[in-house]
Amino acid sequence: TTEIEWWDYDDAAEMADAVAGDIGFIIESAIDARGAAVIALAGGKTPLPIYEKLAKAKIDWKRVTIIPGDERIVPLGDALSNVTAIGKAFLPKGARVIPLVSATAPDYKAAGRAADALLQDLHWPLDLVLLGVGGDGHAASIFPGPDFDEALNGPKERRALGVMPDPLPPEAPVARVTLSKAALTSARAMMIAVTGDAKRQVIEDAVKEGQSSPYPIGRILADVELPVDIHWAP
Ligand code: 6PG
Repeated sequence: TTEIEWWDYDDAAEMADAVAGDIGFIIESAIDARGAAVIALAGGKTPLPIYEKLAKAKIDWKRVTIIPGDERIVPLGDALSNVTAIGKAFLPKGARVIPLVSATAPDYKAAGRAADALLQDLHWPLDLVLLGVGGDGHAASIFPGPDFDEALNGPKERRALGVMPDPLPPEAPVARVTLSKAALTSARAMMIAVTGDAKRQVIEDAVKEGQSSPYPIGRILADVELPVDIHWAP
């Protein structure tokens, strides 16, 4: 179980400034310590203003590798593609942005195996995982469905897998590739950024319930050993 600290802001822009500053600090510390930084960023819409701010930071971006913590199985360039949104902010800066999903896998499980193989070659553990949270308590793409147990309790060495959410999330009703809980919780730092009262309530409930939480975010937080900062704006 982890220590959790909430950081509340007046609005999303103020949150973006603060979180971009914190992520920039983590990246620079990793570069100082190890010559490079490898981070996983959240998909979805909430973090986009954070990425816009962060991309403006004076960082040696060539030393930074970024992966999405999860990906919708859609073609690169699709409006639902997390890596496309992340790449828009950071590719022009010279960062290495790695797609988790390639167009060639025959099904979502194969897509997951391919993503895992790709990540096995990456410098590990990750220096940072930034997570968003869904109104249904999902984080990364760990959703209830046939692959739920494997995403939460699969082999520790498995970094990514394919998942078929059931029901399909309305904001992006497609299969996903996600980092496993083991991969997420092994990172050197974890941060969460969310907006709105509903998500705050979900996270507070999830934290109280811990390992027995029906919410994926509760199961993840119950397994993290480092302090986690949760950034929140209305
Ligand atoms: C995804 C995400 C996901 C996201 C939440 C919140 O690809 O769907 O990575 O875990 O963080 O769904 O999304 P919003 O920020 O758009 O509400």
